[in-house]
Amino acid sequence: MLKNVRKLNDGESACGSVNAVTRLGQTVCRPSGPWSLAVHALLRYLAAVDFKYAPRLLNTDQHSETETLSYIDGEVAMRPWPKCLLVEDGIFQVGVMLRAYHDAVVNYEPLPGAVWRDPEAQWHAGMILRHGDLGPWNMVWKSDRLVGLIDWDLLEPGMALSDVAQAAWNCVPLRPDAECIAAGIRLDDRLDRLRALCTAYGTQSDRVLTGLLELQENEIRRTERYGRRGLQPWKIFWDQGDVDKMRAEMRWLQDWIKNSQQSLAACGP
Ligand SMILES: Nc1ncnc2c1ncn2[C@@H]1O[C@H](COP(=O)(O)OP(=O)(O)O)[C@@H](O)[C@H]1O
Ligand SMILES: [Mg+2]
Repeated sequence: MLKNVRKLNDGESACGSVNAVTRLGQTVCRPSGPWSLAVHALLRYLAAVDFKYAPRLLNTDQHSETETLSYIDGEVAMRPWPKCLLVEDGIFQVGVMLRAYHDAVVNYEPLPGAVWRDPEAQWHAGMILRHGDLGPWNMVWKSDRLVGLIDWDLLEPGMALSDVAQAAWNCVPLRPDAECIAAGIRLDDRLDRLRALCTAYGTQSDRVLTGLLELQENEIRRTERYGRRGLQPWKIFWDQGDVDKMRAEMRWLQDWIKNSQQSLAACGP
């Protein structure tokens, strides 16, 4: 069984939550699928507009169903998180990166009929392409700088605010105490970290919190629906009990918002 690692050494393979990935020199080889056409189109666009955080697409092989991407040198943030993400500057950098991504894709429209990992996802005017899995486990850090955003398989049309909400959920994190402690985050820091993310991105925390409750509800519904149908990767999430976990996290967030109301009103963006 492959383990998830902070950094892939040359010649080594590792497994994220879904895929086995192998590093060869300055490249990584990952499985691809029907959704990869749309992902590759975006990766090419991101390279053309010089969005510096995404890996570059180097090769695709439909026969072996693999893609070759540039290797981004650094460490992926597994728990306990690296020091740079525990301090406010780290979450601030996440907001800066997300702002740069949304600015890069604001005028990008997918090809008509594009296929996404979520078979029911659909593009509408006013949407952007969301990364779809914005968590520390898909962010690469080097010498205290955020240098990479990897794993674009869950790319899908959606609202920009949902990306910010997902980053807040996973990277503040807006999660119950035990999860924060496991990441290495001080419980009292959550509010300031949310504020730092919002300031860096340029939005308001109350909008992000409302967006997060909506996102959680949608993710719970989607994981139940697709998990029951056996559709990956949601079946993995369903089997590992993510629906109950997300429900508990949503209840925690509702309470946290109530209890933090005064501080939230005072804390500006
Ligand atoms: N472009 C890349 N640069 C550096 N490391 C990568 C890259 N892509 C994947 N990895 C490494 O492989 C691991 C799993 O890759 P990922 O694409 O996130 O798979 P999964 O879909 O299973 O989460 C990551 O945690 C990271 O260590
Ligand atoms: Mg991943």
